[in-house]
Parts: sequence; structure tokens; C-alpha cells
Amino acid sequence: MKIEYLESEKLFRLASGDMEYVIGVVDGIYVGHVYYGKKMGDGRCGYFLRTGEAPFVPSVNWREKCSFADAFPWEYSTWGMGDYRDSCLNVRDPEGFRGCELHYEGYRILEGKPEISGMPATFCRDGEGGGGMTLELTCRDKVLGLKAILRYSIFADSEAVMRSVELVNEGHGVLYLERALTACLDMDMEEGDLLTLGGSWSRERHMVRRPLAMGKQLVSSFRGESGHQDHPFLAVMGKGAGQDQGEVYAMHFVYSGNFVAEAEVNQFGSLRLLMGINPEGFEWVLNPGESFATPEVVCVYSDEGLGKMTHILHDLYRGHLIRSPYLHRRRPVLINNWEATYFDFNTEKLLEIAREASKRGIEMLVMDDGWFQGRHTDSGSLGDWNVDENKLKGGLPYLVGEVQKLGMGFGIWFEPEMVSPDSDLYRAHPDWAIQIPGREPVQSRAQYVLDLSRPEVVDYVYEAVASVLRSAPVSYVKWDMNRQMTDVGSTYLGKGRQGELFHRYVLGLYSLQERLTREFPELLLENCASGGARFDPGMLYYSPQVWCSDNTDAIERLAIQEGTALLYPLSAMGAHVSACPNHVVGRITPFATRGHVAMAGAFGYELDITKLPEGEKRLIERQVETYHELYPLMLEGDYYRIASWAENHKYDCWQVVAKDKSEALVTYVQVLAEPNCHSRKIRLKGLDPEAEYQQEDNGQRYKGALLMYGGVLMPRMEGDFASAMIRFIQIG
Ligand code: GLA
Repeated sequence: MKIEYLESEKLFRLASGDMEYVIGVVDGIYVGHVYYGKKMGDGRCGYFLRTGEAPFVPSVNWREKCSFADAFPWEYSTWGMGDYRDSCLNVRDPEGFRGCELHYEGYRILEGKPEISGMPATFCRDGEGGGGMTLELTCRDKVLGLKAILRYSIFADSEAVMRSVELVNEGHGVLYLERALTACLDMDMEEGDLLTLGGSWSRERHMVRRPLAMGKQLVSSFRGESGHQDHPFLAVMGKGAGQDQGEVYAMHFVYSGNFVAEAEVNQFGSLRLLMGINPEGFEWVLNPGESFATPEVVCVYSDEGLGKMTHILHDLYRGHLIRSPYLHRRRPVLINNWEATYFDFNTEKLLEIAREASKRGIEMLVMDDGWFQGRHTDSGSLGDWNVDENKLKGGLPYLVGEVQKLGMGFGIWFEPEMVSPDSDLYRAHPDWAIQIPGREPVQSRAQYVLDLSRPEVVDYVYEAVASVLRSAPVSYVKWDMNRQMTDVGSTYLGKGRQGELFHRYVLGLYSLQERLTREFPELLLENCASGGARFDPGMLYYSPQVWCSDNTDAIERLAIQEGTALLYPLSAMGAHVSACPNHVVGRITPFATRGHVAMAGAFGYELDITKLPEGEKRLIERQVETYHELYPLMLEGDYYRIASWAENHKYDCWQVVAKDKSEALVTYVQVLAEPNCHSRKIRLKGLDPEAEYQQEDNGQRYKGALLMYGGVLMPRMEGDFASAMIRFIQIG
């Protein structure tokens, strides 16, 4: 790992592992992007900035400064001064004039990585390889009195580059930030594909690949959350790039609210990637002396396709983003009562489930929605977080005590950011809901969103959750968020600051989870949002796992988990075995397949175990044992995608390999059975080619090279949706 300034070339060079990122300064003031890619080790690359070609640089050709601005590869592009591509920063001055041009002033190279105040971000971790370095470039718009500090950080054990920006009003007048994105990446790439993740409720994070083309293509959210529909991620894949080969440039946003991720191919065939807070509905008032910090963007370059990008991200998030003490701990196998009972439960029903579950080795009972005063359907009571003692006789301490007597932990569901119109909270504080005065607020799932820009609301919400947790030994919280924002207005923020609400809401949410994880450091927190609508790196900073999707069908989960595991370590994906016919799609799949697919994540059950036939209960016992055995591998290993059902429409296959290559697990799902076909050859990945491996179920031995370059035969299986999980152990 190294960050250096090459005085002779006027270049900054960041290098870590096999990656290099180079920034140049032209005319002493214009900060340009020189290079990002495989390490070249030769700093004489300033010519990539094309300053010797028309239109030349402003000091040589002042009369064509506009042409320069529109073609120059800016590190942090600004609006209104000649660059007509979409930009990162647009500022309005007190007179209403828009325009900004940042000039380089100086740099600092720091050991470590500064925090981004109030926001999640990657951090240095103690221990080997955990250290980092940061480059700070200070730029200024003298007319506005605006200082911009561009930050670039790297870690010794990662090839990712982390970017963020701090904007400081050092002038005398108020400034209005109309756009304040985090990162711009201007590159020479005309041909290739854009990869994003998209979908809907119950179809989250499907991979979407489309050709790059002239013009702008983007994914975004202005729903107040990162969303089911689009994901704060994009990657461009060079021509011919695939799973294991070719160049990939990716950006991933460490943020949980509105975002934009954009690729623009311009008139000169160069590509601009942008990522940051969505400017739609955004305006930040920056008074003299105040500063604004953008959330962090993680940039990844891979010269070995998507596979290497995935490994860089998984290792980065495990090593530098997830703070929970559960990061390296086996998570308890849990049973959640949502699909088992929905709102129809009481203490006795929950204890029946817990008794049967504990006999089969399940380690935690999670009580989902419906436990608080008046909550018999999803139509009311959000905000009134008092235990319903008619349902839960003896209250929470009794229930938790009884569950603990069975040797199990206890978890509870909350949806703290919400208020129902039919609730005591709303009747007492109608102004606490997000709303536009004079308009009837739009309902969604019969609920409103609380205004987390208001400090007293954040305090109320915190105390409501914390007092329940203080009343009984609860060891897990599922923190849900079941609607997106509409009529985004705050009676607290007042005139002129409504454009801050979306971002202030997210800051309020982060402060809540920060407080929670500080007061209850041993709490296992799982974030959730109507399934997986807020599965993003921002939430991962607070909770080591996030509920992937309300769709628990094993076959639907193949594409959802494939897209999620493209970016996130398996230990972050909440995945449960549920009952059949599946509650979302009505499909019937074998119990074993449901187990194999859910074991790719933070594993649990979501069904009424008391109603299962004895055979399935026995299968649960075996699945729990298997999960215990496999968990270290799943938690710490390298994930490889072997085949994608979403692409081949026949079968799905993935593999996890221990870091020391001592074992590997292959999960194979046949999906639909086919007539008249023979076994399928699967080539493994990531093994030691020289080592000897043994297949656990049949004792057969192979050299690593044989498994990787030749392959293993997957027998044809009887019936639709059949699956197999095969373990290979290194024996020499
Ligand atoms: C959301 C969650 C579900 C469940 C329900 C309860 O939809 O994703 O898992 O908790 O809320 O209302």
C-alpha cells in the first residue's frame, strides 16, 4: 500500500495490491483523472490527460476553455462552467446564480482513514493488513468561498479505493447545494456493458446487464431508502468480460437513502461514472462556517471479471465495514413466527413453536410483528411499542424467561421509523409524521413515516425500542421499515430547508442504530425493509446481516441471492427455510433444497414447526447440524459463482472455498428435471491445483487441478427443484 506525490509528473499515485489509481493536476489547478486499473508501476502516464492535444489546456488556449472543460476527465466534476456532462456538484449562491469551478490548492497524505461524521463508512481495523492511508486534495471555488476536500483512502489488505468529499462554506454568504454527489470516474471506455441490480418487492437484486451506449443510463432511488427496485451499485464490464475474465469497474454506495448511479458515454466516446445522493428533491443549505459530508463510495477494479470484484467487496466488507461482534461468530439458527402465525399468536403458541424448535436444535425464537398493543392486523398501532399483555400473558419477561429455559435466545421485531394513523402516538403528535401541511398524507400499508429530522422524534423512537430491550434479556432485533416516502415534508425543518429532509432522515436513522449498538453491544441486529428494500453497505455497518427478501421460495431465491452475493458476504444475507406451498409464489420444493439454498446465508426457519411431519422435523435436526459444521466455511470463505440459473435457465451452482483452500462446498440446484440427459460436468474454482481432495459423500479422490480444469460429474436427479450439497476436503 502506498500513496505518493510524484513531483516531476505532478501526479498522485495510490497503489494497493495489484491496483493503481492516478490523479493529475493540470495548469496547477485542474484536478484530472489519469488512470485506474492494473498496477503499471510507471508514473510517466500523465499523457493520458491529453493536454498536448486540441483543445489543449486553458493556459495555452484560453479562448477554448469551454471545450477543455467538456472533454477533461475531472476527478470531481462541477456544474455550469463548461462541462456539459452530468456532474457531481452544483451550487447556487445567495443571489440565485449557479456555477462552480474547483481549483486545486494542496494535498495531505495521512496515515489511517478519517471517519465521516454521523455516517457509516469503511474503517481501519487493528491487526495485520487492517491499516490504511488517505489522500486529501483541497480545492476551492474562490468566488463562492467554497472549499472541497476530496478524500481517497486505501487499505493494505484490499484493492478497493474509498472516496468521499467534504464541502466547507468558508465564504460570507449562504450556499445552496443542489447536487453534492460523491464520486466521478471519467475513463476511456466506449464499448462494454453496464451491470446493475434491480427488481421489485420479492424480486430484489436481480442482475441486469445491458450494453453501454452513447448518452446517459442510470439507476436511482428517491423513495427515501435504497429500495427494492434499484440498488446503489453499478459496474461497467469491458468487452468480453464475464465471471472470471475481463475488466470490471464497480462503484458501490455506503448509504441507505436516495441515490443515483449513472454511466454516461459522451461525444468523444469517453465514459463518466457518477455516484452519490440523488439530486432529485435534494437541496442543502450551507451557512458560512458549515460543512457537508458526502457518504462514501467504494470503487473496485478487477482484471479477472466479476469473480474478483466480488472477492474484493466481500473481504472489504468483512474486514473494514461490518462492526458487529457477530462478524466472526456463528449466528444462532433461529425460528421466526411471521409465516407461521402472522398476527395470530399468543404466549402459548410461541412457546409451542419454541419447545418443538429447541428439541430439533434451533437456538433462537424470533417474535415478529403483532406483539404490541392493538396490533392485530397491519392496519394500526405502529408507534405504540407497549407489549400487548392480552396476547402475551405475563408480559415479555415471562415469555423470554420460558424461551431461555428451553436453552434458546429470544429475538423481537420492531418497525421503529413508522407511525400508524390509528395509534396513540399519531393522535398525540400528528406533526411527527412526514407530511405536507394542508395535504392528507399518502398512506402505504396504512402507515406514515416518522420525521427523523426532528430530534425529539429520534429520542422518542430510541427510548421506545430501548425500554423494551431493557425490560427483558432480548438478544436479537429485527429492525424493519415497510414503506417508502411520499409527500416529503417536515413541519420541523421549515421553509427553505425541505430539501434536506431525505438526507436528514437517513442521518437520524444512523444515529438511532449507532445509539442502539452502543447501549446493547451484544445485540444481534438484523435490518430489514419490506424484505430487502434497504440491503445496502450503509446498513451493514450497523447490522452484520440484513433480511434478503420476503420471498423465501428456494427457486426465486437463486436469482435474489446470486445478485446479493455478487456484492455482499454470505454471512450478511438473512435466509430462511419456509413452508410449502410457498406463501409468495405457491411453489412446492423439496425440504432439502430449501435448506441447501438458505444455508448460503444467515440461516433460520420461518414456519410452524409444530405442524410439520416427523420426517421434516428430522431433516431440520440434520440441517442444523450441517449448518453448524459448515458455518466457519460460509462465514469466512471465498464465494465463487459457477453457474447462474437466471442466465442458463437450467441449473444453478455456487461454491465456497476456505481461505487456506483446505475445503470447498459446492451447492447445485437442478431446477427443472429434464428427460433423456446425462450427468452434468461442473468445474470447481479456487482450489489448490496440486493438493489432493476427497469428496465427502463417496470418498472419491481428486487432484485440485482435476476438479478445476476437468470437473466433477453431477448426477441427474429425480424431480423438479432437486439439489445437492457436496463437500471436498483437502487430504494432502
Ligand atoms: C415485512 C418483513 C417481514 C415481516 C413483516 C411484518 O414485510 O419483511 O419479514 O416482518 O414485515 O409485518
